[in-house]
Amino acid sequence: MTERIHHDGVLVVGAGLAGLTAAMAAAPRKALVLSPTPLNTGCSSAWAQGGMAAALGEDDAPALHAADTLAAGAGLCDPAMVEILTREGPDAVRHLADLGAPFDRTADGGFAQSLEAAHGRARVARVKGDQAGREIMRAMTVAAYVSPLITTRAGVRARRLLQDADGRVRGVLAEQKGRLIEITADAVILATGGIGGLYAVTTTPAELKGEGLGLAALAGAVIADPEFVQFHPTAIDIGRDPAPLATEALRGEGAKLLNARGEAFMAAYHEAAELAPRDVVARAIHAELEAGRGAFLDARAAVGEHFPDEFPAVFAACMSAGIDPRYQVIPVAPACHYHMGGVVTNATGATSLTGLYAAGECAATGVHGANRLASNSLLEAAVFGARAGAAARELTAPAGRVVAGEALPDLPAPALAELRRAMTRDAGVVRDAEGLTRLARTVEAMKARHGEGPILVTAGLVAAAALARRESRGAHYRADFPQAKDPPARTFVTHPGQQALKVAAE
Ligand code: SIN
Repeated sequence: MTERIHHDGVLVVGAGLAGLTAAMAAAPRKALVLSPTPLNTGCSSAWAQGGMAAALGEDDAPALHAADTLAAGAGLCDPAMVEILTREGPDAVRHLADLGAPFDRTADGGFAQSLEAAHGRARVARVKGDQAGREIMRAMTVAAYVSPLITTRAGVRARRLLQDADGRVRGVLAEQKGRLIEITADAVILATGGIGGLYAVTTTPAELKGEGLGLAALAGAVIADPEFVQFHPTAIDIGRDPAPLATEALRGEGAKLLNARGEAFMAAYHEAAELAPRDVVARAIHAELEAGRGAFLDARAAVGEHFPDEFPAVFAACMSAGIDPRYQVIPVAPACHYHMGGVVTNATGATSLTGLYAAGECAATGVHGANRLASNSLLEAAVFGARAGAAARELTAPAGRVVAGEALPDLPAPALAELRRAMTRDAGVVRDAEGLTRLARTVEAMKARHGEGPILVTAGLVAAAALARRESRGAHYRADFPQAKDPPARTFVTHPGQQALKVAAE
């Protein structure tokens, strides 16, 4: 029998930085946070190495950060949202520092900041080199645990959004240890992360399979830009799933990309060489690998003996595979890293469905456009997570009844493995009509066999939108349409069978 719980407050699905920030911002309302995994595992936030980009330095300004964000986004960012992100960014970093995130400091007490690709300034606030995500999430988790207003429930997976007859979102049908629980609340905030687990090669926790996006799409929410998937150029290629990351900050420190012949190849692809935009570097590495020349990150001169202190996570990952990066080059390959697409939100996190908010990677606020600027994702999670929590706490649901519905179909493990291979092959760094058509057919065949669940809906939206975008822009590269087409236009879709709803104005 299905258990029924009413939570008098805000229900948050996901416990990464966006979810916990939203839960805190929901005060003085109570927040119930659901996480499919134990807290601080299974979320990309805790794995972030680079840090948080914010104009904290005296030589920097939010407008400069905004200009770099807009340039990386290749014509598809929403400038108003970017303005919010970059203006509120410095305070978001200071707030996390106040909560106990131990950001690296300069001698005069300021924030030490790293340079990353496509930033015009060294503006990434970091923690112990590559420990930003881990330490920020440690501070956030402690803060959530001690808050009398926040309850967390781990091991709980959302299986359907609960709606009333008018389509208003009223809660979540969740599953815990095989039992279904209907949890209703005044407002629901999705903070379910990205889609790395849909790809065979990913830098994110494999649990992140785009389920939040798929659940929202199946409920009728407007989805934006699903085709824009960012591939990190330098996942450490040691045959591990997920693939450990070699942070961009290494290239910011001067690490070089070499092929197996020892040639530094990046200058042949872009004038900014190793500091070219992330999509350019990912395609260059992809091309070297496809040509059989191999790709390696050489940080021997740039970091060398300082590796264990300055980049402990990368050092440990390399050493676990028998590679000592102080003296050896690191084999690298592009891997799915971030989804720019997501559930459309306005500036307060509201989606097109009344009662439903979204924040973090599963949301599409418009700040990332076709290509996210490095280290803007923790920032977005903090800035827009807080906005979503603050808006959701104002919502009180009128009396109403949930329309009954079953848990949406899951995808069996063998089919998921097949899907991941197909996504990497056909919707990866370089795409074309043949591969994307094959992928769309694979997804449709799987839907016929396994039912139309959220994982397949998300994969299908990525394939369909990538096929429909007959141009190359940002992270979306079509070998058969290598040029960008003007004017730039975002993708807005609803799942077939659902009515498109106008996104509520702020
Ligand atoms: C990195 O450290 O290279 C990743 C940073 C990011 O994805 O924003």
